[in-house]
Amino acid sequence: MGTKSEVMQPNLFENNPDETGAESSSNSPQFPAVSSSKVQRRLKELKQAIRRHDDLYYVQSRPKISDANYDELFRELQALENQYPDLATPDSPTQRVGGAPLAQFSKVTHEFPLLSLDSEMDEESVLAFDQRVRRELELNQPGYSAEPKYDGLSVALTYDNGIFVRGATRGNGTIGEDVTHNLRTIRTLPLQLRQGVTYPPHLVVRGEVFMRLPDFHTLNRRLTEQGEEPFANPRNASSGTLRQLDPAITSTRPLTITCYDFMSSGVERPSTHFEAVTYLDSWGLPIPQFRRHCPSIQEALEFHREMLEQRDVLPFEIDGIVIKIDRFDWRTALGEKSRSPRWAIAFKFPPRKELTKVQAIAMSVGRTGALTPIALLDPVEIGGVTVSRASLHNAEEVARKDVRVGDTVKVERAGDVIPDVVERVPVPGEERGTPFRPPTTCPVCQSHTIQEGPILYCTGQTVCSAQLKGSLEHFASKGALNIEGLGKKTVAQLVDKGLVKNLSDLYMLGVDDLLQLEGFAKKSATQLLGEIEKSKNVPFARILIGLGIRHVGTHIAKVLAKKFVSLDNLMRATEEELLQIRDIGPEIAASVTHFFQESRNLKVWQHMESLGVRVQQEATVLMPHAQPLTGKIFVLTGTLKGYPRQEAKRRIEELGGRVTSHVSKQTDYLVAGEDPGSKYDSATALGVPILDEHEFSLFMHSGNLLSSSSDE
Ligand code: IVH
Repeated sequence: MGTKSEVMQPNLFENNPDETGAESSSNSPQFPAVSSSKVQRRLKELKQAIRRHDDLYYVQSRPKISDANYDELFRELQALENQYPDLATPDSPTQRVGGAPLAQFSKVTHEFPLLSLDSEMDEESVLAFDQRVRRELELNQPGYSAEPKYDGLSVALTYDNGIFVRGATRGNGTIGEDVTHNLRTIRTLPLQLRQGVTYPPHLVVRGEVFMRLPDFHTLNRRLTEQGEEPFANPRNASSGTLRQLDPAITSTRPLTITCYDFMSSGVERPSTHFEAVTYLDSWGLPIPQFRRHCPSIQEALEFHREMLEQRDVLPFEIDGIVIKIDRFDWRTALGEKSRSPRWAIAFKFPPRKELTKVQAIAMSVGRTGALTPIALLDPVEIGGVTVSRASLHNAEEVARKDVRVGDTVKVERAGDVIPDVVERVPVPGEERGTPFRPPTTCPVCQSHTIQEGPILYCTGQTVCSAQLKGSLEHFASKGALNIEGLGKKTVAQLVDKGLVKNLSDLYMLGVDDLLQLEGFAKKSATQLLGEIEKSKNVPFARILIGLGIRHVGTHIAKVLAKKFVSLDNLMRATEEELLQIRDIGPEIAASVTHFFQESRNLKVWQHMESLGVRVQQEATVLMPHAQPLTGKIFVLTGTLKGYPRQEAKRRIEELGGRVTSHVSKQTDYLVAGEDPGSKYDSATALGVPILDEHEFSLFMHSGNLLSSSSDE
């Protein structure tokens, strides 16, 4: 069903913009003409190569070069642009990431209104639509184009002379928000249209921004590890990301886009929608992976059935299909209503909902002490997944929906992480249990509960083993102290055996303690203690995340660390001082000061300090010149068990180093995992120091080079 083979070279448009147009006007007067033109030539080569490889990788899914080679091109371009800032252009691939956070989005009035669609839920209504269309057009078979209806956010993209200049959300269809800087971070979105084909000089493309399911799950895992709230479903993740004011955050959240229409003024369009989408494809824009030309409505209904079958195995969410009259002249004849066209409809899929019975309502206790009611259900299959638990969110929700044990309920799975109880379904004659009563004591530690807004909290804090377990897991997680080997199972045993009663007790553990735990032998115990020992030297932001202060996730932790430099300073900060900082609102300010006013928290921290935990002050971590690896070049080879390649690379770069793909005399270190390749031999031959994984890992934690390896 792919359309890649149908790429054609549209010739309807007269212009053929000069490839160098964007660059020629920005010639820098500061540099001698010869070197400047050489640099310009190289910049152009690099940009073209990167664009081509982006297209091959992200749009066509057939990469031609390795990630490492791509990174090298990218880095060279970045370096040149840093050196010659006047030659940097907005369409450069480096512009996908970066830019300062915005205070707010500016409003954009759409050049062409972004209409919505009428929805139909059953074949009968779709047949009625077809009948109306045929009657009004006085035709037997008008011909349709059908595409999946992507469950994302509608955007309008503007390309001037082939350069992406602006992108806006749909908003109310007339006025949207300018999200250009965030759209630039989307790898599948070309910043410049493919060269060598012709396109309208002014082009407005309509598309849908969405997040693929594997990316969504990875993002949520990462957010959870970093102690942040995961998104409920891919759509929320896309909208939260697209409307994120800091493009640096957006660029870490992989969005994608598909384009399904274009509008342009003053130029001729092809005569059908199907052809128009083929044009988009030929310009290098990503188009719907599936689409079908349907001579009659019957083929569109068939397409709906096929897509419905595929829905649960597709790596992205679709919620129906869109059926559109294919010929533009017939669209014009049918016209539009105020908000939706008369020539297209959305034929939606039935929602993924099933009926089942509530066996019990359990309370789950999270790290912050929040009690969440969970409905335990008679297992039921929804969209290919067996569901036996569903969230009831909070006690207010349970009361509002009046869900009781024994009730029949409607459960929905909308790409969400945890299915939702939508509503109770009254069954005539069914005997009902007693209304749900929020517990006055915590089911785990029996401490009193308190209500804060709609959420019920356990007051037990570290007395509550559920909270303690959650806090320890969070403390050890990747985004915080990153203590390898201290996962859920070990944490549960440490708490249940009474070996750890608060976070600082972790640093008191000895081999004999760990030997009491199931699955631990001398070697594994020593290994875990080694990891705990390593975590004693910790960047400020990470300990802030690890302490689990409410509302302090990765971003806020970084902001605080940068501003206060040391934990001592932060402990002394007043609410007023905190409120002076741009990203800190009253809730966060109160939460931070309350945390440090609580003597129990101070004691835990003082205990940690007395056991040797040392915070690396932010200045030494973030100041570019003080970074321990500035200027150091690393090459990676073999498999690193504890560090996936990308992670190792990220850590090195965080510390100011660089990773390249080939060993040369310039290489400072080769990091060799298991089964190293020929790079190992090259490094030995050239006398490049080699770090094994253990040394590398120690080094990454301490930020200091081991004397043994640096002496090699
Ligand atoms: S065409 C005037 N095609 O669905 C017709 N829309 O409920 C414009 N959508 O706001 C829309 N996939 O955000 C069209 N292949 C597709 C689509 C699609 C998703 C969204 C779009 C629109 C909403 C209408």
